[in-house]
Amino acid sequence: MNRLLELFASRPDQYLSGEEISRTLGVSRSAVWKQINRLRQEGYIFDAVSRVGYKLASKPDKLQAASILAKLKTNKLGRELYLNEQLDSTQAEAQRLLSAGAEEGCVIVAEEQTAGRGRLGRSWHSPPGKGLWMSIILKPDIPFASAPHLTLLTAVALCRCIRRMTKVEALIKWPNDLLVEGKKISGILMETQLEEERLVSVAAGIGICVNLEQQDFPADLQPKATSLMQASGGLVDRESLLVAFLEELEHWYELYMREGFATIRNVWEALSTTLQRHVKAGDVEGVAVGLNEQGALLIRQQDGSTVPVFSSDVAESSAVG
Ligand code: BTN
Repeated sequence: MNRLLELFASRPDQYLSGEEISRTLGVSRSAVWKQINRLRQEGYIFDAVSRVGYKLASKPDKLQAASILAKLKTNKLGRELYLNEQLDSTQAEAQRLLSAGAEEGCVIVAEEQTAGRGRLGRSWHSPPGKGLWMSIILKPDIPFASAPHLTLLTAVALCRCIRRMTKVEALIKWPNDLLVEGKKISGILMETQLEEERLVSVAAGIGICVNLEQQDFPADLQPKATSLMQASGGLVDRESLLVAFLEELEHWYELYMREGFATIRNVWEALSTTLQRHVKAGDVEGVAVGLNEQGALLIRQQDGSTVPVFSSDVAESSAVG
């Protein structure tokens, strides 16, 4: 199945004869016919023209492991991939898999979450078939104090991937939100396990509102949330976005493990909507001026002193000239 989809993917918009497919894949004509029928049952649509062959006309808007794995060019991320129709939360599933010994790179995706988790104990709205709701297991073996780096590098990967794939000019709001024209399209939730001050494993939870219509959001979220579809003006292929994101995340994660935080900090700062704005984080208020080595946001207060702030809700007001 995997190889058949791969073959059609390598010849987009072309008719392939049963004979050519059977020769290329080294299987009988009747095996090809059976595979095509099985794919049809899964929602793939083939144009069949007698004496010409088959053309893949459309794919179901459903994530398919075989097709994702056929495209994915990562070393580790997503090589172990669990696609679920429905889960309570991919984060909860990641914890269960971690207890069962899951390895670094394992990715859990759900078409729908019934108890999606947001930061600070909030819930995360995760309707079926329209978003990417996923958790990625990482085992970075870094000091606990460096944990914020992982959120920031994930935000960089996500932001760059979205810009490249959809041309939507997403920006990062410190520490973990992606915004488009001031509205949230994506959030990141890191859940960490520690041993003696070191991170032994992390479940990196990522929610991307891909093809949600405005009425798909609950009424209270509608004024402050949007989707990539709405921002880009067309449906976004969730599978291509997932593959591109895993590849981009692996790139930044490997770079971080090799070279540390410095490059990520520069790229994060260039993509940030938080810097040079007046912000309020807990009791601290002032202008956001950068990140420190640990990934804390530096806020310059009115008295001229600069204070590092770790993850919390940052309220932003106007940009500072
Ligand atoms: C936030 O902005 O508050 C973080 C939201 C994180 C949502 C994602 S969706 C996939 C993963 N599973 C969850 O239950 N939460 C994260």
